[in-house]
Amino acid sequence: MNIPAVTPGLKQRLNVPDYVQNAALIAWVGRMADLCQPQRVHWCDGSQAEYERLCEQLVQAGTFLRLDPAKRPGSFLARSDPSDVARVEDRTFICSERQEDAGPTNNWVPPQEMRARLQPLFDGCMRGRTMYVIPFSMGPLGSPIAHIGVELSDSGYVAANMKLMTRMGRGAIQALGESGAFVPCMHSVGAPLQPGEKDRTAWPCNPQVKYIVHYPETREIWSYGSGYGGNALLGKKCFALRIASSMGREQGWLAEHMLILGVTSPQGKKYHVAAAFPSACGKTNFSMLVPPSGFDGWKVTTIGDDIAWIKPGAGGRLYAINPEAGYFGVAPGTNLLTNPNCMASLNENVIFTNVALTDEGDVWWEGMEKDAGDVIPARLIDWQGNHWTPADGQAGRKAAHPNARFTVAATNNPALDAAWDDPAGVPIDAFIFGGRRSTTVPLVTEARNWTEGVYMAATMGSETTAAAFGAQGVVRRDPFAMLPFCGYNMADYFGHWLKLGTRLHAQGAWLPAIYCVNWFRKNESGKFVWPGYGENMRVLKWIIDRAEGRAAGRPTMFGIAPEYGEINWAGLDFSPAQFATVTSIDHEAWQQEFQLHDELFEQLAQGLPQALPNTKAAMQARLATLAH
Ligand code: GTP
Ligand code: SPV
Ligand code: MN
Repeated sequence: MNIPAVTPGLKQRLNVPDYVQNAALIAWVGRMADLCQPQRVHWCDGSQAEYERLCEQLVQAGTFLRLDPAKRPGSFLARSDPSDVARVEDRTFICSERQEDAGPTNNWVPPQEMRARLQPLFDGCMRGRTMYVIPFSMGPLGSPIAHIGVELSDSGYVAANMKLMTRMGRGAIQALGESGAFVPCMHSVGAPLQPGEKDRTAWPCNPQVKYIVHYPETREIWSYGSGYGGNALLGKKCFALRIASSMGREQGWLAEHMLILGVTSPQGKKYHVAAAFPSACGKTNFSMLVPPSGFDGWKVTTIGDDIAWIKPGAGGRLYAINPEAGYFGVAPGTNLLTNPNCMASLNENVIFTNVALTDEGDVWWEGMEKDAGDVIPARLIDWQGNHWTPADGQAGRKAAHPNARFTVAATNNPALDAAWDDPAGVPIDAFIFGGRRSTTVPLVTEARNWTEGVYMAATMGSETTAAAFGAQGVVRRDPFAMLPFCGYNMADYFGHWLKLGTRLHAQGAWLPAIYCVNWFRKNESGKFVWPGYGENMRVLKWIIDRAEGRAAGRPTMFGIAPEYGEINWAGLDFSPAQFATVTSIDHEAWQQEFQLHDELFEQLAQGLPQALPNTKAAMQARLATLAH
């Protein structure tokens, strides 16, 4: 291998700390500093003292507002530029050598062309700013399944968030050693300063030009113009999903947009479930679920709330780890009724972005009134820094942005699972897939087999949410909740899941059952029929009962469904008629639904595994026999 020459002069110019010994890393930082021309380079060590200094600098710059130290100790509010509030899917690119490897659901530009486009944008892009060198481990430090990334960013906000979201700093450098490999993650807000120029905004970004670019073959990430969430915290969607899914395809494992939870019965038997829901559709909520009355002695614990890396372990059993170390969660809708564990996680040491500010120096967002006697504060400062009253709310102006988020370390979570940091991961007993659908898709069904489960996941649809820039509430196909996150051809991704199942089955391995759920069916007046949140425990319990052979279920056109009497209704008033509303399979609606599946399969025709159309044919044959 070609070890680049690292001279003492280079080390001095780049401020390289003594503990950094990786020549490839130092050489890369040198090249990137030459390209971006930052005023100075800061190597993040990940210490608490460094975090506090960073936060204080962000306060001085006006990016952070320190919240009331008695009400929210160690916590800050950031308000982003109104043009920079969510992931930008139309500016996200998978630049593989061949277009068919990116597939029809990803934006694609040939890598050479994209490099030529980005070069002038990155040239001098960090002028007048600090370049933070942010080494991080996705997964427990030193674990054989973890991978190291290094993000170079000109955003102090990003550096502070990465400290909470990942295992960041010296430990990651040690894990990298002298010759370890890392995923290079370049990030700039795209707002260089002239000599002597001061920021005119507390949220520098480039309102006109944004690029979130992945080169899967060389495993590189280049992000320009945005400072928000998944656009900028590159360990998350860019690395742990897009690049990692492509690594998993090569190496025989899975990188998924899934929460991971543990559920323990009153008898002390523990199960682990991984569940995929599209963005802002309830992963954080489900991963921190508090069992309702009627479930005495049951306990749910969180391993992860957004991303799972899943690998076959001993005997072919699937084991999952959460590559992240914190949560970047949706604030609106979160309260003591919907997610008490989450609220407890937010008591201290939190970075809030785009929520509203109270007179007392605390935070507020829509939905917080629900556990406060419906009292909305008389005055607030909204997410854009303007005065706000409940009258503005009635006129439709939100105090918090619908994609307002909190960043918090996993260790803040009172329901954190004891194994959350276990390098071996946890054995998965069931997979759950669920979209946001007001109609058509029943509350819960179990796939008859792995292939039917892959079909259910592949054809999942969901109403779009504020988590991505653009229209909201439109149903689109979101296969495996991975549409914005798959780093390669979606048809090949289906094939990868099917092949993994076949391979493990041939080994005699035990495969988790696959479930399809929908918490979001509405009645004629547009209200959710299923109470959701903690009450989802009733569905989770049925899933466990199925695994234990305690529930026979009822075969339907679309998998095995629960009988009304198989659900524990203790403590909840939910009639058989209401149950029928959320579980019914409407003949007409499903005929239309299958047409949408057809459209997806046409779009993904190249490389689409034949097992999927075959499964559809079997379902349609069953549908045809339904009375209508
Ligand atoms: P990302 O972080 O964007 O990947 O999303 P997530 O899946 O973690 O989203 P989160 O758990 O934060 O979901 C937030 C949204 O889902 C809010 O609008 C909640 O009100 C809604 N939600 C969560 N669980 C339920 C549920 O059981 N029923 C209903 N009706 N809404 C729910
Ligand atoms: C999502 O959109 O699925 C998120 C938030 O988890 S972000 O990190 O911004 O992508
Ligand atoms: Mn997500």
